[in-house]
Amino acid sequence: MLSRDDVFGELGIGPVWRLREAPPASRPPLTAAGSPSTTWDQLADAVARCTACKLSATRTQGVLGVGDRNADWLIIGEAPGADEDAQGEPFVGQAGKLLDAMLASVGLKRGENVYITNVLKSRPPGNRNPEPDEVAACRPYLLAQIELIQPKLILALGRFAAQSLLGTDEAIARLRGRVHRFQDVPLVVTYHPAYLLRNLPDKARAWEDLCLARRTMQSISTA
Ligand code: URA
Repeated sequence: MLSRDDVFGELGIGPVWRLREAPPASRPPLTAAGSPSTTWDQLADAVARCTACKLSATRTQGVLGVGDRNADWLIIGEAPGADEDAQGEPFVGQAGKLLDAMLASVGLKRGENVYITNVLKSRPPGNRNPEPDEVAACRPYLLAQIELIQPKLILALGRFAAQSLLGTDEAIARLRGRVHRFQDVPLVVTYHPAYLLRNLPDKARAWEDLCLARRTMQSISTA
């Protein structure tokens, strides 16, 4: 796994801080960067000010993520949609309601031992698919989140998140049903809630995936 310094080096957070003429008094000093709360602050600040890809020109705001920053469960979707772009929180639209129900079905709740984020922190205009340069530009933010959270399990929602995390173009039907690894963290793939809203019969398969994820978490926690 990358060290925190590697991740923040990739993020370029250090140079960004040094480029500032005089940090406002309310901002923690650079020397405090080692403390977890400060690094989350830095990460949020970097995402808010990010111009690393063209999406920064069209988004309303960067959407870092939401939930328990010490969560065992890390849920990763694709990218903010219109509602998320407006509200600054992942999965707040219809798909978000279904995600909350999916989490509840395995005894989980948004914000309680669960952190939710996306591969992309900025909304692609018109909800088009993320492009490779955008994924590459955003990747350091996701790596930093994983480094900070240290989740026990990642649940990848949908083809896009699964393929980009696992570096494969295998179909989601072939990726689900087994436990993968991302940066040494067990990763389970399931359907994206927005897809499930349009394809109700696949909800049964998503339930199986959630059960696999829960079993995997139980086996990690009792090991
Ligand atoms: N779809 C996603 O993948 N992420 C969101 O935050 C909302 C919808």
